[in-house]
Amino acid sequence: MRETRITTSAEETIAYARLFAGRLRRGDVVTMFGDLGSGKTQFVKGVAQGFCTERPATSPSFVILNRYSGSDKNNSEILLYHFDLYRVRSLSEIYDLGYEEFLQGDGICLIEWAEMLGELLPERRYEVRFSLGADEHERRIEIDGVHQEC
Ligand SMILES: Nc1ncnc2c1ncn2[C@@H]1O[C@H](COP(=O)(O)OP(=O)(O)OP(=O)(O)O)[C@@H](O)[C@H]1O
Ligand SMILES: [Mg+2]
Repeated sequence: MRETRITTSAEETIAYARLFAGRLRRGDVVTMFGDLGSGKTQFVKGVAQGFCTERPATSPSFVILNRYSGSDKNNSEILLYHFDLYRVRSLSEIYDLGYEEFLQGDGICLIEWAEMLGELLPERRYEVRFSLGADEHERRIEIDGVHQEC
């Protein structure tokens, strides 16, 4: 499944991501690709809203990983792991975080600058690509989904 959405404000990107969150299941990995300022963190903000996290998602900036606690449809706790790999220089930094444990856990991983993962990129993943549009507030968001078994 692939879908494309053009948004014309950060709020619209957030609202789109909030809806997308409804499709996510425990253990899902959402990889995000796109230039600086293309909207990846805004999208994460929307996903976090979709899971009613205890605090809003913000850019991890000087850390690689932020964790948020939210709730799923059954009101059970679900953890969101928000990675920003922009500053990562080697895969060992990602290993050292305990990345694989998060990846195989029952939370949801949201990964900005996922191209840094190289061989660590999981086979089963959503790919969300962001690009700048014609004007300052336009963004093109393309989602390639994993096939979800019911
Ligand atoms: N349609 C839009 N969707 C998302 N953000 C938008 C849109 N229009 C304008 N913006 C602005 O663009 C910026 C997007 O920033 P954001 O932090 O989400 O980018 P990013 O892709 O995470 O960048 P980085 O790689 O630096 O982490 C915000 O300042 C936001 O207000
Ligand atoms: Mg960001």
